[in-house]
Amino acid sequence: MSNDQAGPRADDLAARAAAIDLTTSALDHRGGLEEAMERKPFADLDLRDRALARMIAMTLLRRLGAIDRRLQAKLAKPPPEAVTMLLRLGAAQALYMDTPAFAAVDTTVRLAERDRATRPFKGLINAVLRGLTREPQTGDADPEALLPDWLFARWRAAYGEDEARRIAAQIAEEPATDITPRDPHDATLAAELEADRLPGGSLRMRQRGDVAAWPGYAEGRWWVQDAAAAVPARLLRAGKGETALDLCAAPGGKALQLAAAGARLVALDRSEPRLRRLRQTLERTGLSAEIVVADAAAWSDPRTFDAVLLDAPCSATGTFRRHPDVLWGTRPGDIAKLAGVQSRLLDAAAAKVAPGGRLVYCVCSLEPEEGEGQVQAFLARHAEFRPDPIAPGEGGAPEAAARPEGWLRILPHQAEGGLDGFFATRLVRVEE
Ligand SMILES: C[S@@+](CC[C@H](N)C(=O)[O-])C[C@H]1O[C@@H](n2cnc3c(N)ncnc32)[C@H](O)[C@@H]1O
Repeated sequence: MSNDQAGPRADDLAARAAAIDLTTSALDHRGGLEEAMERKPFADLDLRDRALARMIAMTLLRRLGAIDRRLQAKLAKPPPEAVTMLLRLGAAQALYMDTPAFAAVDTTVRLAERDRATRPFKGLINAVLRGLTREPQTGDADPEALLPDWLFARWRAAYGEDEARRIAAQIAEEPATDITPRDPHDATLAAELEADRLPGGSLRMRQRGDVAAWPGYAEGRWWVQDAAAAVPARLLRAGKGETALDLCAAPGGKALQLAAAGARLVALDRSEPRLRRLRQTLERTGLSAEIVVADAAAWSDPRTFDAVLLDAPCSATGTFRRHPDVLWGTRPGDIAKLAGVQSRLLDAAAAKVAPGGRLVYCVCSLEPEEGEGQVQAFLARHAEFRPDPIAPGEGGAPEAAARPEGWLRILPHQAEGGLDGFFATRLVRVEE
């Protein structure tokens, strides 16, 4: 083999080995995927290999439920974990990516060869993957089979069998990029970007690729934000000259909306690295905010605000279309822990609302304990707040998302092409 041939083949293996590391870390715990992207081997790859590693890992996570069921049908007993990961890697490429079947099998077998623990399973890996590629591709008909059992059971309990299946079916679709215009009245942006205008003013891109190269990016005329994620800040109705506080602001899509609406904004978050991204986007868009690095529950600033947004840390199960790792890295116990954090942050947020002011609480979670349950418990603890019902379609939310209780429960299948799952509610502090 010449050196010319050896180079790219070695890189192909490096990208695939990194894809395994990304996936293993994503399955291990919440946030594991992001952590693995910051370290070796992924961080040492060149741009092309990083893109390939990321794409393989995302495809694998998006299709994991279906892949595992197909592998189980071919295996008499579960192989060691490292072998299972290699089989998943090969299957993701052979079944769901443009990788030719022979290359998917060959690179996986060569990866198995490199490790003493997986070397004895080369023959098995080769046989199973070849078998899979010869099977007719019938599609993944049963949406329930695409998710961890415990999570599907939760969604069925919360929304009923039919809705749960429609939510789950969204995982197979790779979502389009949505953007929020800085100026909601920017009349030419949609045409310049060849994008579709959605209710509420978000734009849905038809093209994919490097967002920084799209028209208007460098001039700061828009930022990337899922169409559902853009709804809660609109519900706050922060007007020109009003004071607003975003208590969990980074990386900043909602803070940018509040600043663009003309509010005098304090954007607080406890994560300095995440706030760095907000600073960069503020600079790009020419918008301004006072930035505070602090724990929202311990922030001792005496000010109160006309409008307060709490986009609390949550399980993020509503974002599974863009972040399929949340399905597999989240454990049932995480949800109870996060609900405790949300309840403390809601109490802290309440103290920052001026008499007559508004509080919008939202989470990108599909779990009732993080949404409906939080509001009910909050209202029982805080007689000084009353609900301010959200009208159907308000803020660009799907009409079906408005619930009789006055809050919004946005489900990922409620708009064509999908959107993130969100819960949002608006409360008013009664005048003293
Ligand atoms: C759902 S994200 C916020 C997304 C943001 N609102 C946006 O639109 O881009 C939750 C944020 O809460 C922050 N956070 C978690 N616990 C916090 C605390 N105790 N005080 C302040 N920020 C916190 C996290 O750093 C994270 O950036």
